[in-house]
Amino acid sequence: MKEFRVGIIGATGMVGQRFALLLADHPWFKVTVLAASSRSAGKTYREAVGARWAFKDQPMPEKLADLNVYDAGKDIEKIASSVDFCFCAVDMKKDEIRALEEAYAKAECPIVSNNSAHRFTDDVPMIIPELNPEHLAIIEDQKKRLGTKRGFIAVKSNCSIQSYVPALHPLRKFGIKQVLACTYQAISGAGKTFERWPEMVDNLIPYIGGEEEKSEQEPLKIWGSIENGAIVKAQSPLITTQCLRVPVSDGHTAAVFVKFENKPTLEEIKAAWAEYKGEPQDLQLPHAPKQFLNYFEEPDRPQAKTDRMLEGGMAISIGRLREDTLFDYKFVCLSHNTLRGAAGGAVELAELLAAKGYFD
Ligand SMILES: NC(=O)c1ccc[n+]([C@@H]2O[C@H](COP(=O)([O-])OP(=O)(O)OC[C@H]3O[C@@H](n4cnc5c(N)ncnc54)[C@H](OP(=O)(O)O)[C@@H]3O)[C@@H](O)[C@H]2O)c1
Repeated sequence: MKEFRVGIIGATGMVGQRFALLLADHPWFKVTVLAASSRSAGKTYREAVGARWAFKDQPMPEKLADLNVYDAGKDIEKIASSVDFCFCAVDMKKDEIRALEEAYAKAECPIVSNNSAHRFTDDVPMIIPELNPEHLAIIEDQKKRLGTKRGFIAVKSNCSIQSYVPALHPLRKFGIKQVLACTYQAISGAGKTFERWPEMVDNLIPYIGGEEEKSEQEPLKIWGSIENGAIVKAQSPLITTQCLRVPVSDGHTAAVFVKFENKPTLEEIKAAWAEYKGEPQDLQLPHAPKQFLNYFEEPDRPQAKTDRMLEGGMAISIGRLREDTLFDYKFVCLSHNTLRGAAGGAVELAELLAAKGYFD
């Protein structure tokens, strides 16, 4: 694989810092440009991040620390012309993010985005690489709309759904009718640590703004199909969710209840999980977990602290599968929200795009 020059837009933020760590020694991607707001522009990465560096056990990569931080809004042409593609994770208003990402795409710089702004744009693929890589085909329609040769936007889904949608995906062959999922979400999903959010110690907050709507709607786009230049959402299953913030640093857990058209046996469900492989596994992408879905027989697994780093935080852990009184089955699953659910998922998506020639 050739080496690609990469920019990180929003490099100073929590997700941007994760990108910096994941990309510092990446075999295919070399970070050459960092960008953030005008507050950080003109400083070195070390100066711009300062005390905001969020990873106590992992220092800022030395090879990035002295890079100049650009102004993501003002330096679009300069950045676009000096990289092969950019990751984007910024905290701005949705309409501003939509405009910023389109401006980069129109400047012929592909954008792999962590932001939610374009998740429901009809011709923007929202990809979990193991689940719906076929949606990348919509990029050709998007390029026609934008009038670009190589510029486009591809997004990853919200972190909450990456705990339970991967586990449901191989079970669709049994006809999933109804899903109830309660998510127990880590504080890093709000860009926080316990030092910066002491109110979360010994606490639970039963509300995460906008999260339940995303958790119910995004799976239907992931399971949708391409029709006439748009991704049309799947009509089923019916999904209801409740999303709670819990005092866990990293790792989103979901308690899932599911009803099928053709109820499988327990063994058929476990076999579907054990056997499931996606394109990232076939292509042996650098960030693809070898075993994507992992079932634990122990009754007290998966646990956030013990299991979130499975396969570098990119694998999904599942446990407690059993029959239910209202639904057919219930189970619990876990994924690392800032690795699989955020920067890691975006890096794996970029690897898939690179392997398929989208950055050439
Ligand atoms: N945290 C998670 O686990 C997670 C998971 C999935 C998705 N996301 C999404 O990822 C995005 C970033 O989240 P985060 O937690 O990393 O946020 P964050 O820590 O608040 O960082 C925000 C970043 O955006 C930059 N920024 C703010 N205003 C800007 C502007 N006007 N122009 C250019 N850059 C600007 C900031 O630069 P300065 O430092 O210069 O202000 C910083 O680099 C959000 O859309 C969030 O919803 C986060």
